[in-house]
Amino acid sequence: MSGPGRAAAPAGSGDLWRLDGAVALVTGASAGLGARFARVLHQAGAQVLATARRADLLDQLARECGERIEVMPGDITDASHRQALARRLESHGRLDVLVNNAGICDDGPIESQSLDDLRQVIEVNLISVLDMCRLTAALLWDAPSASVINVASMYGIVSSRGPMAAYNATKGALVNLTRQLAAQWGGRGVRVNALAPGYFPTELTGHLADADFARSIREHTLLARTPALEEIDGPLLFLATAASSYMTGQVLVIDGGWTAV
Ligand SMILES: NC(=O)c1ccc[n+]([C@@H]2O[C@H](COP(=O)([O-])OP(=O)(O)OC[C@H]3O[C@@H](n4cnc5c(N)ncnc54)[C@H](OP(=O)(O)O)[C@@H]3O)[C@@H](O)[C@H]2O)c1
Repeated sequence: MSGPGRAAAPAGSGDLWRLDGAVALVTGASAGLGARFARVLHQAGAQVLATARRADLLDQLARECGERIEVMPGDITDASHRQALARRLESHGRLDVLVNNAGICDDGPIESQSLDDLRQVIEVNLISVLDMCRLTAALLWDAPSASVINVASMYGIVSSRGPMAAYNATKGALVNLTRQLAAQWGGRGVRVNALAPGYFPTELTGHLADADFARSIREHTLLARTPALEEIDGPLLFLATAASSYMTGQVLVIDGGWTAV
C-alpha cells in the first residue's frame, strides 16, 4: 500500500535520512538553532533557502555551505518579505521542508510590559508562522512528501513559572497550530510536527553562560546537564525526512527530561 508521503527507502537504508533534491526554507537562520537547522538540512542534501535580518551572518552561512544554499535577508514580520520568500520558492517549483524557527522572547512580569512588546512577540513567533504556512500551502501540497516543522518550546507545554507570558502563549499556540494544520493537510500528504526544545546554548539564552542559570538547568533536567547545540540535529532531521513518514500532529520534546517529571 502506498500513499502520499510514504517512505520509499528500503529498510536500513541511509536514504531514509536524506533530502537530496528537496527544497527547504529555514526562518531565523542567521544564528542559534536556525543556523544549525540550515546546516543539517543542507548536509542531508537539500537546497536551502535561509532567511533572517542579519545579512552578514547569512552570507557567512552561505560561504560555509558552498553550493545549494540561497539567502534572503529580511524581517519575518514584514508581510512583503514573507511574500518574497514564497515567490522565491515558487520559482524553484517546490517546497519540501518548511522550518518555522524565527523566534524572540519577552521578559518581565506582564503588568510591566508594554502592549507593543507583547504584540511584537506574537508577530514574530505566531503571525509569521501562520502566514508562511498560508503562503506556501500550494507548494507543500504539491511536494511528494512535505514536512512542516514548527519550532515551539517546552514552554508551549508547561509554564516557565517566571516571566515570558507572550513567549509561552505563542509557543502553546504553535503546538496546537501544529495539530490543526496536521489535520487540515494530512489528506494532502503534508506532515506537520513541532520541536519543543528545552534550554539550548544560543543568543536567546545567553549561550547558557550564566553559572546560576546553567546550574538550574542541571537541577531541572533528568539528564542533569545542559545540551550541546548539535543535540538538536537528530530530532530536526528525523522530522524533516522519511524517517518520520508516519508521524504528524506531534510534538517532539528535546529537553533532557525537564517536562517528564
Ligand atoms: N535556545 C533555546 O533554548 C530555545 C528553547 C526553546 C525554543 N527555542 C526556539 O527556537 C527558535 C530559535 O531560537 P534560538 O535560541 O536559536 O534564538 P536566537 O539565537 O536568538 O536566534 C533567533 C533567530 O531568529 C531570527 N529573528 C528574530 N527576529 C526576527 C525577525 N523579526 N525577522 C527575521 N528573523 C528574526 C534571528 O535573526 P536576525 O536577528 O538576524 O533577524 C535569529 O536567526 C525560536 O523560535 C525559539 O523560541 C529556543
